[in-house]
Amino acid sequence: DEAERTARIEAALEELGDDVVVLGHNYQRREIVEHADFIGDSYQLSKEAAEADAKYVIFGGVTFMAESADIITDDDQTVILPSMEASCPMAGMAEALQVDAAWAEITAAAPDENIIPITYMNSYADLKAFCASQGGLVCTSSNAHRAFEWAFERGDKVLFLPDKHLGENTAYRLGMEDAIAEWDPWDPEGKDADEVAQSDIVLWDGYCQVHERFRVDHVEQIREANPGAKIIVHPECRREVVEAADKAGSTAEICRTVEEADPGDTWAIGTEIHLTNHLQRWHPDVNVLPLCGDACMDCNAMRQIDPNYLTWVLEELVAGRERNVIEVAPEEKELAGVALERMLEV
Ligand code: 13P
Ligand code: SF4
Repeated sequence: DEAERTARIEAALEELGDDVVVLGHNYQRREIVEHADFIGDSYQLSKEAAEADAKYVIFGGVTFMAESADIITDDDQTVILPSMEASCPMAGMAEALQVDAAWAEITAAAPDENIIPITYMNSYADLKAFCASQGGLVCTSSNAHRAFEWAFERGDKVLFLPDKHLGENTAYRLGMEDAIAEWDPWDPEGKDADEVAQSDIVLWDGYCQVHERFRVDHVEQIREANPGAKIIVHPECRREVVEAADKAGSTAEICRTVEEADPGDTWAIGTEIHLTNHLQRWHPDVNVLPLCGDACMDCNAMRQIDPNYLTWVLEELVAGRERNVIEVAPEEKELAGVALERMLEV
């Protein structure tokens, strides 16, 4: 049962002491985040990983986050992901080989221009390495606008991937909404060289299946049932949902907004359901609602990190066995590290 499992996790953590640090993404379930030394969004966790000095970093999150932690930590530190099945479907929508082929077509469409590729943190290490090799960088939802500004100081166009919604919302934030082209790698007609030539921002056609689910009628229903409620959504949501909401913000921004709310305020949250549930528990004086009620979804990749797997990897470490080690290939590590360092600097 849960009490017994909690006791086993605590005993293993006690035994491992300073050798272990547990990082938990905000979308992880309660039974994981309550054992985390740090809870945060992708950006905060990458900074925590960079500063961690424990021998083992246990990552409560998804594969691309654990890869980034491996890149950012020292060589003698080991990153462990409690389940190897925790893979973000959006990261899989832009595979490096596929991007490589698209890059040839996109650069041919605008031969005299300097195109800078920016990849969202939600991508694999080989794509991060590719972006660095072409003069680009990584961003998260909390610094995408700064990454775009960085790129436009150095180049003429941006190719942003994999999340078209974050890309579109960032273009609006920068007043560049009239300069967008979409690139659909799966549709022969969705690859329009003329559009690329005429635009400043090219968006890869990927999306997050959790955030894409929010619709404008969810916003309308919340407003009707809760006059006075304010609505904040993650910028991975569709453009029209961001427009209908009161505010859009990264995971950290959503947390800050609820933290800073006055007692009795109502905030409806458009993001992964575990974060909404955590905010309800952490801030009982604020009325925190899920934006789409019972239809709100958890992320099936984040969900793979089952507390039983956390127990297993910790107890195996106590027994001297390293399980589920995430190790980025050395040939990708250096360049992907450059892309991440550029992000940490902007
Ligand atoms: P952030 O943690 O950057 O807000 O990203 C949200 C997300 O979807 C993580 O998988
Ligand atoms: Fe990927 Fe979306 Fe899940 Fe984040 S919430 S891990 S972007 S599928």
